[in-house]
Amino acid sequence: MNTHVDPKTGNPQAVSVNETTKAALESTMLNPRFYTTDFDELDRIDVSSVRGEWDALIAELKSDPNKGHFKRNADWDDLDIEGLPDDLRKELVDFLVSSLTAEFSGCVLYKEMKRRGSNPDICELFGYMSRDESRHAGFINDALKEFGIGVNMGFLAKAKKYTFFKPKFIYYATYLSEKIGYARYITIYRHLEQHPERRFHPIFKWFREWCNDEFRHGEAFSLLMRSDPKLLSGRNKYWIKFFLLAVFATMYVRDHARPAFHKALGVEIEDYDMRVFRITSEITRQVFPLVLDLDNPALLRGFRRLNRINTRMNAAVERGGIVGAIGKAVWGTAAAVAFAGIYVIPTKSNAIPDVSRLEPVW
Ligand SMILES: [Fe+2]
Ligand SMILES: [Fe+2]
Repeated sequence: MNTHVDPKTGNPQAVSVNETTKAALESTMLNPRFYTTDFDELDRIDVSSVRGEWDALIAELKSDPNKGHFKRNADWDDLDIEGLPDDLRKELVDFLVSSLTAEFSGCVLYKEMKRRGSNPDICELFGYMSRDESRHAGFINDALKEFGIGVNMGFLAKAKKYTFFKPKFIYYATYLSEKIGYARYITIYRHLEQHPERRFHPIFKWFREWCNDEFRHGEAFSLLMRSDPKLLSGRNKYWIKFFLLAVFATMYVRDHARPAFHKALGVEIEDYDMRVFRITSEITRQVFPLVLDLDNPALLRGFRRLNRINTRMNAAVERGGIVGAIGKAVWGTAAAVAFAGIYVIPTKSNAIPDVSRLEPVW
């Protein structure tokens, strides 16, 4: 049992919080975060300049193509989690908890937008997107509950720290996380189609339809950004570059922390990450005025450097004490320098096409 102060009443409450909920609560550089924003500003968005594409997308979301998808059926084979090697079991749980946190983070943010908004276009969109994310998070939690380690999502929503982002940063970050989420899930799905013997958990069978939801959510953010061209030009280009690099580098470092998981899938982490980056980069041409130069070897060298720094940073944190604190500061600075190093690598410019809409053909 833990005590937790109810933010509304200020009274302490006793709640049962298991290890997985604690893991989901953790706020570090690399863990998925919860966001809040200026909902009034977001509510003022006017999508009339993209009306045709907007209405078509809303109609698709309304038709709810994945309504019956997130249910366990005969395809859900039994898994003996205790039978998995220790490192794989640990990394699988870490993967599930981190995915759940990311899904639930979208659910909470989108639901809040729907609740606070008065703009019918925005409220309708965010209602459908929170419906999808809630299903995604719930489905992962069912998988965790099967092992008796479900996350207490109600508690998580109340107790997790929320990071404030201006709406434009929400657009860049969320657009990218939806599209990279699509690219990650479809790449794993396609790989396992070729190598079904590597499918060590049934949840991967659900990834194809699942990632189409993420693809649609990304489509919506593309239209939101395109409705206000200022977001895609001038100084905002520097922010777009920043978010592209931050999202890619985070994925690179996070994936490298799960060697047993990727080995069991039969994927080489760097190769998998580069494939995901290429798909994501190709998709982002629908809206961003620039793409990263993925063929520049300096970029990959920078990601590798950030990963090495992260390993040392973790060792310093683990060590603790004064030496640990100094190490943490040193490696934190080193990470900032390494990030600046990848930031100065020139990008390729991209002419934003007239039509935003893409199909998930990967
Ligand atoms: Fe999702
Ligand atoms: Fe999504």
